[in-house]
Amino acid sequence: MDITTHFCKVFSHSPTLEVSAAGRINLIGEHVDYCGGLVMPASLNLCCRVLARPNGTNVVNVYADDLDETAKLSLDSLEEYKSLGWGKYQAGVLSVLKEAGHALIGCDLYYSCSVPFGSGLSSSAAIEVATAVAMRELTGETYDLTTIALLSQKAENTYCGVNCGIMDQFASAMGKKDKAILLNCKTLEYEYIPLELEQYELIVANCNKPHALVTSKYNERRAETDEALSLLQKELPEASCLADITPEAFEGAKHVLSSPLLARAQHVVYECARVKEAASALKAGDIQTLAKLINASHDSLSKLYEVTGKEPDALAYAARETEGCIASRMIGAGFGGCTISLVEQGKTQAFKQAVGKKYTQETGYTAAFYDTSIEDGVRIRHF
Ligand code: GLA
Repeated sequence: MDITTHFCKVFSHSPTLEVSAAGRINLIGEHVDYCGGLVMPASLNLCCRVLARPNGTNVVNVYADDLDETAKLSLDSLEEYKSLGWGKYQAGVLSVLKEAGHALIGCDLYYSCSVPFGSGLSSSAAIEVATAVAMRELTGETYDLTTIALLSQKAENTYCGVNCGIMDQFASAMGKKDKAILLNCKTLEYEYIPLELEQYELIVANCNKPHALVTSKYNERRAETDEALSLLQKELPEASCLADITPEAFEGAKHVLSSPLLARAQHVVYECARVKEAASALKAGDIQTLAKLINASHDSLSKLYEVTGKEPDALAYAARETEGCIASRMIGAGFGGCTISLVEQGKTQAFKQAVGKKYTQETGYTAAFYDTSIEDGVRIRHF
């Protein structure tokens, strides 16, 4: 049954609107967005689709087709849904929109999400952005997609308890077909860079290890970087965030830090420098340099930032050892989730087979490989 027919079955009327918002990969610039750094995400074909229709009540009904579950969110008591598993993302967005003075309307929302949950491909950002765009369209308001990204991030921070940066929501809202976004997370200035990878393809693989404690470990890393910054500011008072600190300045000031803050800050400072180099390399079509930087990013996330773990390491290193692959690294928050690999065209099938086999031998888990392409972040269709 197609999802429009299914919407009619669930809600007894037909939808008037369809929106979708994308999941994302990130070429490079990991765990630096909340430190004011540069990142380079791109929005995926894997996305959250929402069918919608006003329902004339004061309730937003949200239905998830994979769970076959509906949550009823009363617009009068939006603070009450923080403990919901899946509906809290929608409730959080509605609550933040209301707080910002935007109009809300009772409606039926049907969610069909192809971004695997908890995979590091930003399924929650896709749900948040899709919800905000649907509400904007149904109420006839006109706030822009950057505003939607910021409000969605706020929902995740204040309502869902994840102290995330802006990368995921921005990529979901602002992504463009076949482009990477070079985003400055301090100023929100951005540019699109064509994702032209010569004879290489991007392969996205999921290590399929259930995430554990991601939220608490993520928030812990963020707190560590805040603490490292305040110590470094004694030596470098002009730095307003870790991304302001050059590798040279860091080397001169790092004596104020000890383990583990030293390693955390070192990752951020050098990762920011790598993103700048990677952007130049991509613009120049120098894919071999880009590949080296991607590999260095993973190694730093593994050894200095300590957010990979056995399975993401095994998946990335198995990929790098396989013929045709020039780079592989984990993406997203870490502690599980996905890797991206740069693999020579024509060798991708053999690559998936060899990496899948090796990864299972080493970890006991079965990796999943996705058919991905880079597509527009948000799509809107009124019926
Ligand atoms: C998660 C967060 C992002 C970013 C990445 C790590 O995806 O939501 O804000 O911090 O982790 O780069």
